[in-house]
Amino acid sequence: MTINTAAPTAAEAASPAVPVRTPVKRTVLMCKPEFFTVVYRINPWMDPALPTDTTLAVAQWQTLYDTYVGLGFDVHLIDPIDGLPDMVYAANGGFVVDNQAYGAKFTHVQRQAEGPAYMDWFGANGFDVRVPVETNEGEGDFLLVGDVILAGTGFRSASDSHAELSAIAGRTVVTLNLVNPSFYHLDTAIAKLDETNIAYLPSAFDEPSLAILRERYPDAIIATEEDAAILGLNSYSDGYNVVIAARAKDFERELRARGYNPIGVDLSELLLGGGGVKCCTLELRR
Ligand code: ARG
Repeated sequence: MTINTAAPTAAEAASPAVPVRTPVKRTVLMCKPEFFTVVYRINPWMDPALPTDTTLAVAQWQTLYDTYVGLGFDVHLIDPIDGLPDMVYAANGGFVVDNQAYGAKFTHVQRQAEGPAYMDWFGANGFDVRVPVETNEGEGDFLLVGDVILAGTGFRSASDSHAELSAIAGRTVVTLNLVNPSFYHLDTAIAKLDETNIAYLPSAFDEPSLAILRERYPDAIIATEEDAAILGLNSYSDGYNVVIAARAKDFERELRARGYNPIGVDLSELLLGGGGVKCCTLELRR
């Protein structure tokens, strides 16, 4: 696989319409889906009656891992645990900023053992672990954009976790209400592109939350329902390279038009669990 990580050429940079984007090296945590399967249903994407192929899930995940390594990211791994099939969705393992790791406290009993497993990893790897009191699913519902934390609630993370995180992280937390069960985590409805830009799916939010998003991000990319239907917004950006679902064609076009470099990856097997690129990625900020 060849990935173009180069900065835009002088000719590209000279074009007035397309901004120059600068990649920022990322450090992330991932979990290989060695025990991935769908045996319970905690979101509308999951159907235990449908077969899953763990070997294929691992191969697709490996492509995402290789893509990140190719982009120069520092990729850390947490050992998967037998019996925790959703552990591959590392984004839910916590929220890490300024070397503090705010742990996850999962909504559904099927995932609750993941919280301590991730906190153990954070502690063993030099992070200052903050044990949560409130129910929250980590970076699945918290996105750091510039100096604010966009925070989802409605299906998983309790709104009380927003105040808890705000106190720990010392940052403004903006509460956004999710209303469509298919977009149950914030990272399924908003993609952070860089410190000032996002993409989002309007139909995933209630009116007051939409008003906030329109006001804060007037230049946001508005996702299409077609792309959202394959969790196309569930993507991960370094500020220039944006790793997205290979089938999210509208999103890909919009990103390119704005000077980003979309890189498509096929995670169809992990979509059976209701997750995509971002769900498999937890950003670590020292
Ligand atoms: N099956 C998992 C769940 O429902 C998928 C989690 C997806 N993660 C995410 N960050 N959106 O909890």
